[in-house]
Amino acid sequence: MTTSTPALAADLKSFIEGLPKAELHLHIEGTLEPELLFALAQRNQVQLPYATVEELRAAYAFSDLQSFLDLYYAGAAVLQTEQDFYEMTASYIGHCRSDNVRHAEIFFDPQTHTERGIGIEIVFAGIARALREARDAHGFSSAIIMSFLRHLPEEEAFITLEAALPLRDQYRDLWIGIGLDSAERGNPPEKFTNVFARCRQLGFHLVAHAGEEGPPEYVRDALDMLHVERIDHGVRSEEDPVLMARLAKQRTPLTVCPLSNLKLCVVNDMTEHNLARLLHAGLAVTINSDDPAYFGGYMNANYLAVAESLQLSRTELVKLTRNSFEASFLPIAEKQRLLLELDGYCMAH
Ligand code: HPA
Ligand code: ZN
Repeated sequence: MTTSTPALAADLKSFIEGLPKAELHLHIEGTLEPELLFALAQRNQVQLPYATVEELRAAYAFSDLQSFLDLYYAGAAVLQTEQDFYEMTASYIGHCRSDNVRHAEIFFDPQTHTERGIGIEIVFAGIARALREARDAHGFSSAIIMSFLRHLPEEEAFITLEAALPLRDQYRDLWIGIGLDSAERGNPPEKFTNVFARCRQLGFHLVAHAGEEGPPEYVRDALDMLHVERIDHGVRSEEDPVLMARLAKQRTPLTVCPLSNLKLCVVNDMTEHNLARLLHAGLAVTINSDDPAYFGGYMNANYLAVAESLQLSRTELVKLTRNSFEASFLPIAEKQRLLLELDGYCMAH
C-alpha cells in the first residue's frame, strides 16, 4: 500500500486512542489470532497446513471476500470446546479494554461450528462466559448477534434458529439480534425473507451485511425485505443517490470496516475510502474492525488508519464515536450514560 498522507500528530493519536467508543461489527471468529489458533490446533490435535505462526500470517493476503472466507472457515476448525470459545472471546475483550471500547455487539456464526459437529450450546456458553465475566469484573458492556451464513440455504438458517431458541432464556441478557454474513454476491437478501420475518416476530434486532461486494440493490432489499435496522458495511450505497438520500433521511446506521475494506480489496488505497464522504452526506456511519486478527488491527487501528489517510478532524472523529453509541442496541439510559462519558472526555481533552 502506498500513502502520501502526513503522519498523525501525536496529540491527535492519543485523543483517538482514549476516545470512548462502541464496536458494532465484529465477528468473534475473526478475532482468532494465529498464536491462539496454533495453540488450539495443538490442544485439539487439529492438523494445520502451515508449519509456523509466521507462515499462517503470511497467507493473510486476500484478493476478495471469498479468498478471506476460505481461510477464515478453515481457521475456525480449531475451535472445539467451550474453553476454546471462552479464551478467544476473553482475548478480544482484552483488546477492547486497551482500545477504550466501552460496548461491543458481537457476531457469531453457529453454522460454522455445528457443521463440524460442535453443539450450538457449546458456542453460546464459551462466548457468554467471557462476556459475563468481563461485565462483572470491569463493567464491560456487550451483546451477541447470531448470524446466518448466506451461502447456505434458508432452510438451514431455520434449523439453526430452532436449535438456538431453547437457549434464549438462558442468554436473554446477551442475545439481542440476528445477522446475515458470508459470501454476498449471488446470495441476495431476498433468499432470507422468511427466516428474517420469523426472527422479527420473535422480537430480535435485525442487521445484515450488504453493499460490501454486492450492489446497492442488496442494501435496499435488506431494508425492504428483511427489515433490518442497521446495514453492515454498506459502502457501495454511494453508487445509488436515491438510496443515499434515504439512508441519510432515515439515519440508518452503516457499520463500516476500513481495514477490512482495504484487505479485501473493496478499496485499493485507504485514501480512496468513502467513509468521509458518507459522513458528510449525513449518513450515520460508524467505524468497526470486522475480523481484526485477519485484517491487521482492532478498533483503534481502524480509527487511526482513516484519521491519517482521510485527514479527519477531531469533530469528525467524535461524530463517528457518537454515532457508534447512538446506533447501538443499548437501552436509552445506557446510551445516554455513554454519550455523557464521551462529552466529558471531549471537554477534558
Ligand atoms: N463479510 C461477509 N462475511 C463475513 C465477513 C465480512 O466482512 N467477515 C466474516 N464473515
Ligand atoms: Zn463482517
